[in-house]
Amino acid sequence: MQIVLASKNKKKIQELKRILGDLSIELLSLDNFPNLGEIVEDGYTFEENALKKARYVKQKTGLPALADDSGLEVEALGGRPGVFSARYAGEHASDEENIKKLLMEMREIPEDKRQARFVCCIALVLPNEEEKVFWGYVNGKITMEPRGNSGFGYDPVFVPEGYTLTFAEMPLEEKDRISHRRIAIDKLKQHLVKFTQLYKQNLS
Ligand code: IMP
Repeated sequence: MQIVLASKNKKKIQELKRILGDLSIELLSLDNFPNLGEIVEDGYTFEENALKKARYVKQKTGLPALADDSGLEVEALGGRPGVFSARYAGEHASDEENIKKLLMEMREIPEDKRQARFVCCIALVLPNEEEKVFWGYVNGKITMEPRGNSGFGYDPVFVPEGYTLTFAEMPLEEKDRISHRRIAIDKLKQHLVKFTQLYKQNLS
């Protein structure tokens, strides 16, 4: 069975291929459909963005489609940057610029009030219009200064609960094991195991 991931991000495609590797699924991506055009992420929630991308790709390809949206929510900022995480300091802002803006906004917030969480929402849209979303969260705290060079995005300022290192100070495999994305992908996988079994039964 083929499923299209609505992404061109090589790391995301490889991660999903690794985790779903033991299922009888051929994972395609937007690289297999170069003429689909850009999908604008203009929703106000992670779910809206993920569903919008998956619906579009399902409609254009006629195949089951997957899409994700993720970001950082800071309690003291009322959930910001949230869906605007990638472009918090401006449309084409770098990770460093986004972190700088975040730390500046949080400069008065003491250590015990710096709770935050990473959120990942994955949407699966099937050709029969069936839709399902899977969520992953990882709770933690925002540091006063960036620390570490690994990972991407807000990793240098996020310490997950139960740890003292930031995501950017941890080995990548350790982050991948506990991340919001991993939790959402594991839920997706459980669903796909059932789905591929049903699919095979229907074919036989
Ligand atoms: P995307 O929608 O998955 O591409 O992620 C949107 C933005 O959220 C990224 O550009 C990052 O700024 C932030 N983000 C999402 N996941 C992570 C993570 O695991 N570490 C650090 N930043 C992240």
